[in-house]
Amino acid sequence: MKTDHSQKATNDEIKTRFDNDVERFSNLESGQQTTIDAPLTMELCTEAAKYIAPHAKELLDIGCGAGNYTLKMLSKIPELNCTLNDLSMPMLEKAKERVSEKTNGQVTVIQDDMRNLDLPDNHFDIVLAAATFHHLRTDEDWELVFSKVYNALKPGGGIWISDLITHDSELINKLFEDKYRTYLETLGGTVYAQKVFDYIAYEDTPRSLSYQLNLLNKVGFKAIEVLHKNSCFAAFGGIK
Ligand SMILES: C[S@@+](CC[C@H](N)C(=O)[O-])C[C@H]1O[C@@H](n2cnc3c(N)ncnc32)[C@H](O)[C@@H]1O
Repeated sequence: MKTDHSQKATNDEIKTRFDNDVERFSNLESGQQTTIDAPLTMELCTEAAKYIAPHAKELLDIGCGAGNYTLKMLSKIPELNCTLNDLSMPMLEKAKERVSEKTNGQVTVIQDDMRNLDLPDNHFDIVLAAATFHHLRTDEDWELVFSKVYNALKPGGGIWISDLITHDSELINKLFEDKYRTYLETLGGTVYAQKVFDYIAYEDTPRSLSYQLNLLNKVGFKAIEVLHKNSCFAAFGGIK
């Protein structure tokens, strides 16, 4: 059965929201406040990427925002050529400015929907995608993007994903939504928690961890690894 996404935010609405939210995504130490364990998942994804590809040269950051994940990656493997993708030009401008200060490698920006990425085959050692795949809507979107990443990675390269997730069981989903609400309430109170839940309901279509692990397997990834899961957030990846 097809899910109806007609009431969800359009790409233009998502782009406009992020155009106006650059500063919130520019703190390398804290990462994104609404993400549980944000500094830990950033550390684990970039450390996994380094262990898998210590001599990496080419990095792609999908939905890079202001560049936090790429900056963290450059602190572990300097001088990478960095390809930065995002829907939002203000995000990309900020990311380019910050990333160019930290690498002598080439910095390339691609302002486009990740579904439209036209990437070279067998080119990247590392692909990072943090808090962004949850904007994908249909099964076809998810498979298209995961396949593009697979084809664009060199054999032995890896994708590292950190994202909001759902759960396949309705009751377990409720359990972790409740836990997430409590977490948000301790950060900013009940009104803040509801605000975050409202924008997730309007803007996001996350998938479960098992859905994404199965999809990584389906598009061809050889080794699939879970780095961390806490409540509605997970860090995981696949090695080609
Ligand atoms: C929550 S932010 C995360 C930014 C960054 N990855 C980080 O962890 O700091 C999500 C980013 O994904 C971008 N984005 C949303 N939908 C996208 C799409 N379809 N294609 C490319 N980027 C997208 C947004 O513009 C935004 O900058």
